[in-house]
Amino acid sequence: MRIRDILDEATLKLKESCPRPQFEAELLLSNFLKKDRVYLHISDNIEVENYQEFFKLIDRRANFEPLEYIIGRVSFYDITLKIKKGVLIPRPETEILIDRVSEIIEKENIKNIIEVGVGSGAISIVLARKFPNLKILATDILDSAINLAKENIKEFGLEKRVKVIKRNIIDKLDTSNIDLVVSNPPYIANSFKLEPNVANYEPKEALFGGERGDELIKRIVLDVKRGGIKYLACEMGYDQREPLEEFFKQKKIEDYNFYKDLAGLDRGFIIKYF
Ligand SMILES: C[S@@+](CC[C@H](N)C(=O)[O-])C[C@H]1O[C@@H](n2cnc3c(N)ncnc32)[C@H](O)[C@@H]1O
Repeated sequence: MRIRDILDEATLKLKESCPRPQFEAELLLSNFLKKDRVYLHISDNIEVENYQEFFKLIDRRANFEPLEYIIGRVSFYDITLKIKKGVLIPRPETEILIDRVSEIIEKENIKNIIEVGVGSGAISIVLARKFPNLKILATDILDSAINLAKENIKEFGLEKRVKVIKRNIIDKLDTSNIDLVVSNPPYIANSFKLEPNVANYEPKEALFGGERGDELIKRIVLDVKRGGIKYLACEMGYDQREPLEEFFKQKKIEDYNFYKDLAGLDRGFIIKYF
């Protein structure tokens, strides 16, 4: 089958499941053929022998499987990471969290931090690359995330500075030399109806934060306070500012500020505990 005909058929098959069916068909085919997208256009008469294998990938995408899981890689900030089912695909809005944390690390010359909920390793790897003297202890409860984060950390040669351990939040960790905790925790309400590409493929543990959604965030806020750590930088849902502000008041946490994402929605907060 010729490249041109493969792309036409693949685009048609992706119409229902993808916002940009032709673009995604081209991405998947260029990845399958290990060529760039320009090649597809200048060689559209070339015959592809094993095109049935390619259409298996198209069927997965037509079933709403995220493109990143099919390709096995994801772009985040200034890097490309391995990604696989069982681990959350890093989102662009989390890049803002990195910028906010970077400002604090720079200003306070911070050397040791913890990341709660490392996932693929996206946040820790970007921060470790930005700050060559930074050491990071990263936790997660999912083996799939811990294993993938370790693979990605190794790929970037950061094993000496970024350690990953299986831990619930920061349970039983020595926090005496830690100055900051960063986290993009699960913060969606358990009952929230997600799109099929998320609900059917991404791990529940990475998405749902409790009945209201902010329960795990609140536990992190208290754990970091108890650990005597100066800063917490945390992502949150766009509608969680009000209940969290109320919670901070109750817990006598006074020095905090919220930040917005590029769409202008509340997306996270920084607490300075002392
Ligand atoms: C929203 S994902 C974020 C992953 C990654 N940091 C990122 O930004 O792409 C949340 C991560 O927190 C982990 N997690 C959930 N509950 C946790 C807990 N109690 N303690 C530590 N990690 C937890 C999940 O397994 C998941 O990997």
